[in-house]
Amino acid sequence: MGGKNLYIHTYGCQMNVHESDQIAALMLQNGYVRTDNPRRADLIIVNTCTIREKAAQKAMSQLGRFRELKRKNPGLIVGVGGCLAQQLGQVMLKKFPHLSLVFGTHSIDRIPALVRSVEATGARFVDTAFRESIVSLGILAFPENGHPSAYVTIMQGCNNFCSYCVVPYVRGREVSRKCEDILTEIKALADRGIKEVVLLGQNVNSYGKTMNEECDFANLVTKIGKINGIERIRFTTSHPKDLSGELIRCFSNVKTLCEHIHLPVQSGSDKILRRMNRKYGREIYMEKVRDLRSACPEISITSDVIVGFPGETDRDFQETIDLMEKIRFDNAYSFLYSERAGTAAMKLDQKVDVCIKRERLHYLQSLQERHTLEKNRTLIGKRQEVLIEGPSKNCQQDATGRTRSNKIVNFEGGIEKKGCMVSVRIKDAYLHSLRGELSQEEVNPC
Ligand code: SAH
Ligand code: SF4
Ligand code: F3S
Repeated sequence: MGGKNLYIHTYGCQMNVHESDQIAALMLQNGYVRTDNPRRADLIIVNTCTIREKAAQKAMSQLGRFRELKRKNPGLIVGVGGCLAQQLGQVMLKKFPHLSLVFGTHSIDRIPALVRSVEATGARFVDTAFRESIVSLGILAFPENGHPSAYVTIMQGCNNFCSYCVVPYVRGREVSRKCEDILTEIKALADRGIKEVVLLGQNVNSYGKTMNEECDFANLVTKIGKINGIERIRFTTSHPKDLSGELIRCFSNVKTLCEHIHLPVQSGSDKILRRMNRKYGREIYMEKVRDLRSACPEISITSDVIVGFPGETDRDFQETIDLMEKIRFDNAYSFLYSERAGTAAMKLDQKVDVCIKRERLHYLQSLQERHTLEKNRTLIGKRQEVLIEGPSKNCQQDATGRTRSNKIVNFEGGIEKKGCMVSVRIKDAYLHSLRGELSQEEVNPC
């Protein structure tokens, strides 16, 4: 093999984005160079998500669109992976005759061999078997476009079985990677110039529980905090039930741990939280938020909320609104409840009418927009440490980066400093970003 082009179309969460980077790194060793143009590709992979019905539909229609490219170029190999592929397996091949390869969430290491088999035989393959342990890929996956921040998977799967959620079924049981392996990977990333790591897991707070060794998530973060060259640590996602006092203390003790936590609450009603099988109540959640804020007063807290879960009455919804008003999240992602095959919530009665769901979502989102703006505006006039990621999306002459609290800042005169940590004074605040001015004095010259 040599000089072939790989195009990857990614849906879903950061875990999928990272896995696409891993696939690209694996295929690079097998002679495939990543391209951003599907028309030039010899191999197309659609990395799918099935968290909500809409995500599954999007991936399906994108796969359908590649039929035409296959017709024009019969040598093109089209593959599908990720959570929807794991869920549907063989059905995918039947549904899409132009598809040669279906691989699941535990099959990434096997992709090169699978592609070679398709190339050699022209046959079609499905590989969606689950494995009990994590298979090391033996590669370092870097983010696309020389981004200074890298994802690091610390665990796979999920054992929580929240009643609405398909993830435990498509990602399998929770398994943590060995602490030593994670540290070695992060040191190698630091040696290659990575400044920020984002630790990934469906519930990072339960890191280590499936292992015999004594390393829990707070220990892991503390150890990463000592790695030279890593100036920022982030993680996602945290389940509130497993958020420990030790981890909360890390926000004051580990200097490189950024002041941001994504802590999905899902609902403010105890009754709904019980039906969701979340294993915490609103009081416990609010207490954890208070503890986080007292350990780290400037911490930014973001959340996820599901609207219209079966049994959610106006009163339950009002409890969610009340919780949001009390807490005032820096941001919250909110979703209409979407029924997923095989989940426990499918069997629950008292489904909520779709019009009511939409009305509630609209109300909740307007409230959150007010809170986000209010929070962002508190930064006006303040100086923030920003890691420059590259040119701004809307204006290529401007630079864009993130504050430690994970807010996007755009400003003039920094694009040549990609990967540098700079100091920016915030001049204006909007819903999705901040506008700033580069300070003369850099935080960390590079
Ligand atoms: N492991 C993460 C969540 C991953 S899914 C965690 O526990 O926080 C991201 C978000 O999608 C969830 O937090 C939830 O708000 C939403 N979600 C998951 N399943 C859903 C469903 N069936 N309908 C609507 N939203 C859902
Ligand atoms: Fe899904 Fe719950 Fe696991 Fe998150 S913790 S992935 S919401 S089952
Ligand atoms: Fe989607 Fe799978 Fe992530 S279902 S949200 S891509 S874990």
